[in-house]
Amino acid sequence: MEWFDAVPFMIGCADAAHQVEGNLVNDWTVFEETHPEAIADRSRSGIACDTYHRYEEDLDRLAALHGNAYRFSIEWSRVEPHEGVIDAKALEHYRKVIAACRERGIEPIVTLHHFTLPVWLAHRGGILASDVPYAFARYAAACVAALGDIVTWWVTVNEPNVLAVMSYLYGYWPPQEHSLPKTVHAFAQLARMHAAATVAVRDVAARNGWTAHVSFAHHVRPFQPANPMLPSDVAAAASMDWLFNSWMLEACRTGRLLPPIGRGEEVYGLRGSLDYLGINHYTGEEVHLTLRGAEVKPRRGYPLTENSLAIDPLLFESVLISAWDTYHLPILVTENGVADRTDDLRPAFLEDHLHAVQRARANGIPVLGYCYWSLLDNFEWHEGYSMHFGLFAVDRTSLERTPRPSAETFSRIAGEMAGERVPIVPR
Ligand code: BGC
Repeated sequence: MEWFDAVPFMIGCADAAHQVEGNLVNDWTVFEETHPEAIADRSRSGIACDTYHRYEEDLDRLAALHGNAYRFSIEWSRVEPHEGVIDAKALEHYRKVIAACRERGIEPIVTLHHFTLPVWLAHRGGILASDVPYAFARYAAACVAALGDIVTWWVTVNEPNVLAVMSYLYGYWPPQEHSLPKTVHAFAQLARMHAAATVAVRDVAARNGWTAHVSFAHHVRPFQPANPMLPSDVAAAASMDWLFNSWMLEACRTGRLLPPIGRGEEVYGLRGSLDYLGINHYTGEEVHLTLRGAEVKPRRGYPLTENSLAIDPLLFESVLISAWDTYHLPILVTENGVADRTDDLRPAFLEDHLHAVQRARANGIPVLGYCYWSLLDNFEWHEGYSMHFGLFAVDRTSLERTPRPSAETFSRIAGEMAGERVPIVPR
């Protein structure tokens, strides 16, 4: 029996420190202040959902919905506010959050880097700084040393592909670059960060006799040609698919920075760096190549979310199937969700996507868990507070949380699936 056969199904919600905790000082808070025009509703993350203080009541909400898993991130800028200086009190806070999870029968899934950086690091080049893998590993080691006795599931980096593209190619996010060479460099650096952190997590856990399962959270967004009869569309979709969806996974499989990001250089710790595969999935897109470059649009014929993403649960199922067929790693859905303020789409979205997970499991694919993004409406990066992913709406003045009808849908399905042990029959 493989180790993952014994894992009771985890179902819960995901969030990230910057989006919910409130009152942070990091590269993003500086960006929000200096570039108000870059945020759709000109909001600042500010107090966010004040989850830093209200985590217990929010964990009560999650537990009341039969959630038994909570993915959240540790904020690097709290833990290492000055270079090389670890704040033990900050780690103590996260220990309390994890203890509060455990008291409620909720499995913590802990992310070490979810898009934000301490200001000192941003000032010296952010993820492009040559020693960032070392700095990240040092911070990761401090987190595991402080929390590894009560955390089993670790996520090193959230969505390296999204971060590289949004920050260095499209320039929506700090440091707002529009540079292909820097995007390439960012991909390579994020692979090195993931590798270095994985080594650190495993090392500290092994020295202490703790169990640690490590992955990064991979955003999978399949691209298909807008016109499958046009070779240019086919080629554009295939190359985007390779870089965005496959490159990082192949780097972890081979241990090398493969073209076009590298020339096959080996990265210490990268090969075999995944104990499981964290998958974030929201949508797929169509690609049309024009003289001005690739036009990327939502797939036609599907309902659209508040942020114009096509909803297709069958695509989600095919992502799970092909990830398992290609990598043979147990899968943890670290994010899946829908922006839908009026809650017209969310109940069916949850039904359909969780049924896809059930079918995949029944067909022998070891899907270990599912984290809905997100329990609460939160700060949606350059979209500010204008997107509503929450099972609970959050009043921006009182911060009062109000369940949307879909919270009930989630609760019903989570009640059936939480803790389920489906014998995974190898395909
Ligand atoms: C990110 C989250 C974000 C979510 C919804 C994911 O790509 O990891 O931080 O809030 O998508 O857009």
